[in-house]
Amino acid sequence: MRLLFIGDIVGSHARNFLKLALPKIKSNLQLDCIIANAENAAGGSSITVETAKEIFSSGVDIITSGDHIFKKQEAKEALLKLDILRPLNYGELAIGRGYLIKEINSKKIAVINLVGRVFMQPVDCPFKTVRNLLDDVRKETKIIVVDIHAEATSEKLALGYFLAGKVSAVIGTHTHIPTADERLLEEKTAYITDVGMTGSFNSVLGRQKHQIIERFITNMPVRFNLADQDIRIQAVIIEIDEQTGYALSIKRVEYKKDEFL
Ligand SMILES: [Fe+2]
Ligand SMILES: [Fe+2]
Repeated sequence: MRLLFIGDIVGSHARNFLKLALPKIKSNLQLDCIIANAENAAGGSSITVETAKEIFSSGVDIITSGDHIFKKQEAKEALLKLDILRPLNYGELAIGRGYLIKEINSKKIAVINLVGRVFMQPVDCPFKTVRNLLDDVRKETKIIVVDIHAEATSEKLALGYFLAGKVSAVIGTHTHIPTADERLLEEKTAYITDVGMTGSFNSVLGRQKHQIIERFITNMPVRFNLADQDIRIQAVIIEIDEQTGYALSIKRVEYKKDEFL
């Protein structure tokens, strides 16, 4: 099966570009499933039912998230109603789910969402949390995709090796900057430290450059507005052997808005 994993969707400009481009990308690549991290979907932070529905209607099957997910109250409703994940290692008392198993074209796909702990808020251990879940998930399906939403490259790569041969893919998100280290770990598990972002590339991580610069120069709080120029989708295409659940390939892709006008 062919799967597309899309990097953090930032705001309305990114959502609009997905609406335009994703149906064409889906049919061109003959994709079976699309997963997207959308922790920044609503105004650049968190998600709402409305913004999530827009993303699903573009062709996304399952949404993952990260540390920004609860920045808007509306996210709670979205997590309870729709196929949206919050980090599993926030623990069982947090609202919503940290993993799901969804049947798409009569194939069961498991998606697990984890958040890192290095340079991030303290949460349960992502390694032990996912280890405790895997046996149960593998009884249902061998096609398992993990989103590790984390800052530190070392933590993400360590988790990749920790899960090598046990899951189909370990995909890093959160930094909004793609890394060039995509590969198959142990010839079985597709891995990339960070898949990148869907948003403005004439920006700092999707926000207006001058505001971010002002924040660094003044050390004072500054409102960060969304940037709207040079919108791109960054993603990876992963091919998975349905019998074994092992990945066969992983490839980085980037789509620019002017290619679709
Ligand atoms: Fe994040
Ligand atoms: Fe993000």
